[in-house]
Amino acid sequence: MTTEYGRAPVPAGIDTERPSAARVYDWYLDGKMNYRVDREFGQRAVEQFPAVKGLAVANRKWLGRIVRNAIDEGITQFIDLGAGVPTVGAVHEIVQEHTSGAGKVVYVDNEGVAAAHGRLILNNQGATDWAGVVQVDLRDPDGIMNDSVTTQLIDWNEPVCLLAVAVLHFVGPVDQPDELVRVYGARLPPGSWFACSHLANDAADGDGKLQVQRFVDSYQETQNPLWLRDRSEIMSWFDGYELLPPGVVPVTDWRPDEEAAKDIEQVRPYSWCGVGRKPSI
Ligand SMILES: C[S@@+](CC[C@H](N)C(=O)[O-])C[C@H]1O[C@@H](n2cnc3c(N)ncnc32)[C@H](O)[C@@H]1O
Repeated sequence: MTTEYGRAPVPAGIDTERPSAARVYDWYLDGKMNYRVDREFGQRAVEQFPAVKGLAVANRKWLGRIVRNAIDEGITQFIDLGAGVPTVGAVHEIVQEHTSGAGKVVYVDNEGVAAAHGRLILNNQGATDWAGVVQVDLRDPDGIMNDSVTTQLIDWNEPVCLLAVAVLHFVGPVDQPDELVRVYGARLPPGSWFACSHLANDAADGDGKLQVQRFVDSYQETQNPLWLRDRSEIMSWFDGYELLPPGVVPVTDWRPDEEAAKDIEQVRPYSWCGVGRKPSI
């Protein structure tokens, strides 16, 4: 077992025996914050579901487009649930580039490597005055909202962009994701955005459906089991929001730019995403 990633030692309390979604996803994106167990798992996942790396890249590009679109609408505060390792296309870097220093970013992840690495990056970049990491499970909205990092950075009188990007498929039915989404939505100030993307196979053909199902089954052995949901379930999470055009679509099709065009057909059937704006009262 490799016990180091890059040159950094394993942070205390990190499980290197089982793959973690954060580190495997980092590997899909060609990042370096992963262990051998994650890379081996990722290789097997690619054999089962060849589109997975392309899908991760397309999802990440969509995240970037959301952040830029939100900033264009005047939103400068971001809470990124299940943020992962903030390397490739990091939210805080996009925010810094496009808000002339006015932005605030709270990264939330319950995975130790993602949180430790996030803190390290923000420290090294001198960004801790306006960006921070909360290592709390997203199934605990109060824990996140009451964390000192959140209370110091977020002004609840101003709109917030709440990002739940490729993360709610890790929340099983027993944890009532519908209710969780409702609770977060109730806390957001008017004018806020809720952006969500989710793994899916309801639009895939027979072979694609099977590939995704095998991929989902393989995640049962990780620290983060996966659940599939269809388009109507994702649609229902935007009840009470103004669903922004183009609605609930594959990540490749949400306001695509030139960058999004690569490998579109290969990954299109495997995700749903949408963005809702909370109406003013
Ligand atoms: C597939 S990655 C997505 C990363 C990033 N949001 C993106 O789309 O580029 C999912 C992330 O969600 C995190 N995660 C999974 N379940 C979580 C939970 N219950 N609470 C907080 N984070 C969670 C994982 O640790 C991982 O970093």
